Amino acid sequence: MSSSSSSPTAKWSHSFLYLTFLYALLYFVHTQIADRLLVGHRPVSVKKNNPDLPLRFRSDGSFKILQVADMHYGNGGLTRCRDVLDSEFAHCSDHNTSLFLKRMIEAEKPDFIAFTGDNIFGSSSADAAESMLRAFGPAIESGLPWAAVLGNHDQESTMTREELMSFISLIDYSVSQVNPLAEDSSNLAKEGRMQDIDGFGNYNLRVYGAPGSHLANSSILNLFFLDSGDRETVHGVRTYGWIKESQLRWIRGVSQGPDHSDNAFTLDKPPALAFFHIPIPEIRQLWNKDIVGKFQEAVACSSVNSGVLETLVSMGDVKAVFMGHDHNNDFCGNLDGVWFCYGGGFGYHGYGKKGWPRRARVILAELRKGEKGSWMGVERIRTWKRLDDEKLSKIDEQFLWEYQLS
Ligand SMILES: *[C@@H]1O[C@H](CO)[C@@H](O)[C@H](O)[C@H]1NC(C)=O
Ligand SMILES: *[C@@H]1O[C@H](CO)[C@@H](O)[C@H](O)[C@H]1NC(C)=O
Repeated sequence: MSSSSSSPTAKWSHSFLYLTFLYALLYFVHTQIADRLLVGHRPVSVKKNNPDLPLRFRSDGSFKILQVADMHYGNGGLTRCRDVLDSEFAHCSDHNTSLFLKRMIEAEKPDFIAFTGDNIFGSSSADAAESMLRAFGPAIESGLPWAAVLGNHDQESTMTREELMSFISLIDYSVSQVNPLAEDSSNLAKEGRMQDIDGFGNYNLRVYGAPGSHLANSSILNLFFLDSGDRETVHGVRTYGWIKESQLRWIRGVSQGPDHSDNAFTLDKPPALAFFHIPIPEIRQLWNKDIVGKFQEAVACSSVNSGVLETLVSMGDVKAVFMGHDHNNDFCGNLDGVWFCYGGGFGYHGYGKKGWPRRARVILAELRKGEKGSWMGVERIRTWKRLDDEKLSKIDEQFLWEYQLS
């Protein structure tokens, strides 16, 4: 006998082994991999729908941002609301958070939505991806470009911060990025490579001038997104995360780097707005200062001061910062010429204050007109909030910045 494989029994047993192997492989693929490709019953695929890019001002000279802070989304209809009136409790769930987002989009018709973290409340979420898709659902359905950063609770479910940001960057109409590419900065790192930077969700979005204007191909408003982390232990003591030196180095570089707008029409750096989750320690100093809005709870920041305020002040282009994290604070206060504004708690599963409506912030940038009636750079930036009451009451409107001839 030259080889046993020629006998009929051996052939049969080989086929059997082969089939067993095939079955085992299919079983493995199904259980280990397919689960990761399915979110609930919706297959996740690479983004099908992208918004029209670049972001740009409208032909009426305005660009409106809706800030949504702390949705704290759980699992949907079964996730109860916190800190609502006893009479409201029975008929309140994450659906109310979604409903509020839909109403805000309809009422304000923003050009862009910025989610400033704690988008989901990880410890209440059975599947992070599913909760994210539901939380951002009304934004996705609206077809508006939107972007998000992470808070300190997003990663408490089934995905890490890196996986979450990567997932968020692939959802329809999202313009979020995991981190900046090397080519986005002025330093000479290898092109296309992700920059060596702390955290996940550090990126810069440029908003271009009005269509048909001289500045139609120039970025005239910068939007910086930074990852303020979750929790850290410093000298054995637990504290909140903070924005690291590598992130500050990056933002300084982007702010000074070539930004396509160095032309005769914009002599100054274009104004910028920044978005992150955890407030910086200096916000505490606003306690006895003039503020617009309510300061009703202690600032839950990191014990580490990494110099965010000094960096922003020295950059000069960041006129206002939009944060979340402290749901019962919704004020804007000014520190060394930079406004710091809380969004105020948006989501019903996040803690709040009974009888104090959930709320959202709106930011409106408006352009100035040139001599021939053409739209130029940004003239002013305003903000207000809306409450989730019957009329979506508009409150606390204020100016944040106005252009001055230098
Ligand atoms: C939540 O939504 C339901 C209807 O979907 C509504 O009856 C209820 O008043 C809402 N609750 C709050 C607190 O807004
Ligand atoms: C902007 O770019 C488009 C396409 O490249 C071009 O047709 C248009 O003339 C440019 N506008 C200005 C103001 O530079």
